[in-house]
Amino acid sequence: MKIGEFHDVNRKLVGRTVWHYDVVESTNETAKELLETDLEEGLVIWADRQSAGRGRQGRAWASPAGGLYASVILRPPATHAWVLGLLVGMPVVKALRHFGVFAGLKYPNDAVYQDRKIAGILSEGVYRHDVYHVVLGIGVNTNVDLDKLPPDVQPTATTLKREVNLFVANDEFLDYLLSQIDDLYSRYRNTRIEFLLKDYRGQCTTIGKRVAATTSKGTITGRAYDISPTGAMIIMDEQGAKHEFVEGGLKVLK
Ligand code: BTN
Repeated sequence: MKIGEFHDVNRKLVGRTVWHYDVVESTNETAKELLETDLEEGLVIWADRQSAGRGRQGRAWASPAGGLYASVILRPPATHAWVLGLLVGMPVVKALRHFGVFAGLKYPNDAVYQDRKIAGILSEGVYRHDVYHVVLGIGVNTNVDLDKLPPDVQPTATTLKREVNLFVANDEFLDYLLSQIDDLYSRYRNTRIEFLLKDYRGQCTTIGKRVAATTSKGTITGRAYDISPTGAMIIMDEQGAKHEFVEGGLKVLK
């Protein structure tokens, strides 16, 4: 149920309007249902809880009360739109650092702190009446106790509450995060994608590390070497051959 609505006229596009819900199945799904109506670009769907939160690769995203669950509706040109999902990892990491967690950016767009995941992004592209939309779904473990997350994710997850002594309200975190996404999206529309990918490359803490990337074709082990002009991770294997990795499981090896 919708429980509130906020406006910020100082924003360029992202988060000029935020619709606040108590519980939804998934903010990405709510956003996609709304695409049928003629709604403003940059609208944000924010929920206190999700009953069927979704992650990448068909995984579930545990969404207990206390966490931050939001989706931004955008209408970028369809070219490069996939890269937007990658780039939005930067404002998420920036927001976490702003509130005291010195998170890193794990390819493609996970925010991690000391090898434990603290935030994830599910970016989905959808056509509605020939118009391309991107729904950027962001989940942050803000005010969540680790034991509220499923036992299988606990060893590799963390939360803001666990890492920082100061209480950070979700509306405060969301406000800062949206201002950063607003800036990124404005750069995305006005700057060449190469420049943004260069920034991304500089912030991606996976680069230089040994990784195992698993796709439907099998597993490649090697060193995360670079980000390609299309946003793929270039992995150099032990024989010096380069492989491009985009979607699948990426494990950072010790
Ligand atoms: C991942 O790392 O696998 C992506 C997690 C994305 C979770 C967010 S929470 C808000 C939005 N709604 C969803 O159902 N998923 C995304």
